[in-house]
Amino acid sequence: MKTAVIILPSYNEKEGLSKIIPEIFSLPIDEKIWDLRVIVVDDESPDGSGELVADLKKTYPKLHLLTGKKQGLGKAYMRGFDEAIEKHNAFVVFEMDADGQHPASLIPQMLEKVALGADFVIGSRYIKGGGLPKAWGWWRRLVSVVSNNWVARIGFMHFSIHDWTSGYRAIKTWFIKENIHHLTSKNNYVFQIAILDKAIKKHLNIVEVPLKFGLRERGDSKMNTFQFMWETSLYILQHSSFIRFAIVALIGFGIDFGVAHFLIETFHWQVIRANLLSMELAIIMNFILNNFWSFGHKKIEHKPLKIVTKFATFNFVSLGSIIIQAVGLMTLLTFVGDFVMIDMFGIAVRSWIVYKVSIIAIFIIPYSYFMYNKVIWKNKR
Ligand code: GDD
Ligand code: MN
Repeated sequence: MKTAVIILPSYNEKEGLSKIIPEIFSLPIDEKIWDLRVIVVDDESPDGSGELVADLKKTYPKLHLLTGKKQGLGKAYMRGFDEAIEKHNAFVVFEMDADGQHPASLIPQMLEKVALGADFVIGSRYIKGGGLPKAWGWWRRLVSVVSNNWVARIGFMHFSIHDWTSGYRAIKTWFIKENIHHLTSKNNYVFQIAILDKAIKKHLNIVEVPLKFGLRERGDSKMNTFQFMWETSLYILQHSSFIRFAIVALIGFGIDFGVAHFLIETFHWQVIRANLLSMELAIIMNFILNNFWSFGHKKIEHKPLKIVTKFATFNFVSLGSIIIQAVGLMTLLTFVGDFVMIDMFGIAVRSWIVYKVSIIAIFIIPYSYFMYNKVIWKNKR
């Protein structure tokens, strides 16, 4: 028998708690397999949520209460996880809203996924069978889909997870124990993204089950949308390999352009010779920066032969970008033409510049990011 602990963070959720707790304890759970317990992490809610839980404990011996000062959702979960691990020796912990938006009926299904080998189960609103409350208007839906979901999916260039921010999850505790330091620094709702990002980078077996997100019956959401969007953007900037990859690409472009210009203008090198050297310098720099920074979590093993072969492959992939650019430029110059497209403020923008920028945006960036992920810095499984 293994212990599963449901963590219900609550701030002024008396009504929700009074409904959800009896529901959880009446679920058809096989007690030979799972010992199901609940910890309410209440931050001294003025509405008396704590007293209610203390009262319910008389009926439900597997209900526990943890109280403390209000420090945000992430902190509340970390305290709950700690307690579940230290005092209850939990094998798996659940994240769940206390306001009734997460149907308890999903718990058995999530437990089954865990029993079948999943390390991280997500109640997902954006897969078939899941969804947002019908009563939500289009604006609220749009904000939810774009801000909660697409920002993270695009930011991390990881599309196989459909719901990045869902607050209904089952997570194996070995993972939490191993990554506690990464997680404790995120206090608010961005905590949800941080823990999932870590789980992906550690190659956990992540499974989504459809979640029909319910309406909040009482009270208001505690989420500050602007703070959440700001913290999410910052987190993605600091942790996404895609953004770092883009920064490295810009640095490479600077080196390539700068060195070529310098050699040609100052040392009067031939254009081709100067460009060959500047390109190779940019490639070397990009390889190093990507390996130790952008794709640092998938760093190439410290074996000389491995590094040399990967570097050769990297050159080959870079050659691919050069060929794509050359072919694209030639095609556009031949069929569309070489002319001055815009003439503004005394600056003439020649068509080849527009072509080059478009080719880079549409073909080179996706191509390189794909090749780096699938060929050079592959996921280790
Ligand atoms: N103890 C404690 N301390 N509980 C908190 C705090 C806090 O500082 N802030 C929020 N909570 C509790 C709430 O009382 C609720 O039970 C739960 O955490 C989630 O907060 P809600 O206010 O209901 O959030 P939401 O419904 O807007 O957001 C839900 O969806 C998000 C994605 O769209 C949650 O499931 C989020 O976790 C999720 O990221
Ligand atoms: Mn909620």
